[in-house]
Amino acid sequence: MLFSSLVWLALVCSVPQSMACLRIMSPGGVVPMPRPTMAPITAPTAAPMTSAAATTKITTTTTTTTTTTTTTTTTTTTPAPKTCPASADMASVFLKSDVSFINYSYGQVSPSETCTTCEGGEVSYFPSADSDVPASGSEAIGTITGASCPRMCICDPSGVCWKLTSPDVIVTFWPYCTGGSCGVYTYLIVDSDTDGLETEDGSRRISASSQLDADYDTVSVTDSSFYVNAASIGCDGCVQSSCKTTSAM
Ligand SMILES: *[C@@H]1O[C@H](CO)[C@@H](O)[C@H](O)[C@H]1NC(C)=O
Repeated sequence: MLFSSLVWLALVCSVPQSMACLRIMSPGGVVPMPRPTMAPITAPTAAPMTSAAATTKITTTTTTTTTTTTTTTTTTTTPAPKTCPASADMASVFLKSDVSFINYSYGQVSPSETCTTCEGGEVSYFPSADSDVPASGSEAIGTITGASCPRMCICDPSGVCWKLTSPDVIVTFWPYCTGGSCGVYTYLIVDSDTDGLETEDGSRRISASSQLDADYDTVSVTDSSFYVNAASIGCDGCVQSSCKTTSAM
């Protein structure tokens, strides 16, 4: 039976239409048709073009941003900051209009000169004290108490601003020049060991006790670790003045 079937198949399939025969005999009747293999060709062709276009776009955007920044800077710079002249032999400081000094037994010197170019206050010039160590007497610029000026803010020539750690802090300002460089230095008076001045961001603190050495003698004002050189003083929080004094460094 099997043999005769095979013979029949061989015979039938040896005729010229053998292909047709094999298709008919396929098990499920499913004829695998060769599929067209053209589909993927379209996709990769456009890719490099898109990349190039993107790069060009980025370059264009960068150029636009730079132009905008330049314009902004120019606008900000246009009203030139007002200045007062520097002095190599007098200590100068910008005093906002709300600042007033008292004589807290260290002195209250009147300014030798003032410069009124700047708004909101004036730059005052003071003669140097004889000593680099603050002492009772008459050579201090004067004193401001935290009680009378609790939002006191002192900015140094580098633009760092300092505030009181407590309204109990009292600051005496000591003018001193040496080697052609002058400053207005903060001598601190407070009962607490830790209170004094602190930078606006809280990263640095100078306490009143740190201005005393191991023998309880006052440290020289030229030690920048323990004294702030005041470029501006105000009683209404830390608002930088556009008026810079250059009495120091
Ligand atoms: C400030 O007080 C001190 C000490 O009491 C005194 O020697 C000095 O003359 C006073 N100065 C002024 C300008 O009042």
